[in-house]
Amino acid sequence: MKIIVVSNYDEMSKIAAEFIGKEIKSKRNSVLGLATGGTPLGTYTKLIQMHKKGELDFTSVKTFNLDEYLGLSPKDKNSYHFFMWDNLFKHININPANVQIPKGDTDNPAKFCQWYEDRIKQAGGVDLQLLGIGRDGHIAFNEPGSPFDSRTRIVGLSQETLEDNARFFEKGQEVPCQAITMGVGTILEAKNILLIANGAKKAEICAKFIEGQPSEEISASALQKHKNVTIILDKEAASKLKNKV
Ligand code: GLP
Repeated sequence: MKIIVVSNYDEMSKIAAEFIGKEIKSKRNSVLGLATGGTPLGTYTKLIQMHKKGELDFTSVKTFNLDEYLGLSPKDKNSYHFFMWDNLFKHININPANVQIPKGDTDNPAKFCQWYEDRIKQAGGVDLQLLGIGRDGHIAFNEPGSPFDSRTRIVGLSQETLEDNARFFEKGQEVPCQAITMGVGTILEAKNILLIANGAKKAEICAKFIEGQPSEEISASALQKHKNVTIILDKEAASKLKNKV
């Protein structure tokens, strides 16, 4: 795993956007795996800026999002669907037909999960997967204990994740306790992976997944098994690494 430590969130976002931009420039029909959460927001803003300056063309880019809350319709303001359109897709020239986000209000979740896996395969697999990380080490919504060979499926969310994600919901609105998520195994099939993390709250988990023994108790530690992983951390998220980069 290649670790890059930068001074702050803005620099992390800039380097991550340049990394993604390089991928799109080298392959205009790249398949991107995309993440939600607070961490990638700055990266998406930079990608939008690059697009507006005429540097990035998304016409042929395909995207697959990692996860979605089960039970939320795409129109729900708390859905990851809404988040992605609001924070990225509506600002760039992506073809809506090329955007895939798990359907939270599907009436047949098991069938949908298989369909999603098939769609990723039909697209030729993910070229570059962007990831954030939860404080319990989750990538996408693969909570502790997720098998390293898990596929797209329905999962329950941990108390810590529900509490962390409550900040995106209006007061009084409950965070759904289940989600559809790509599996750890699905994520590991991406050709190239970029994980970003910032802030002191992520320091402990970053040290564990990067420097500890790989364990299914820390989903992100599965990335140690992948040949092509880049991790961009700000100083605070990197502060507990033993081997200084
Ligand atoms: C959610 C998402 C993850 C994301 C995590 C971290 O649980 N499902 O994909 O990495 O939140 O979120 P944040 O970037 O807000 O810390």
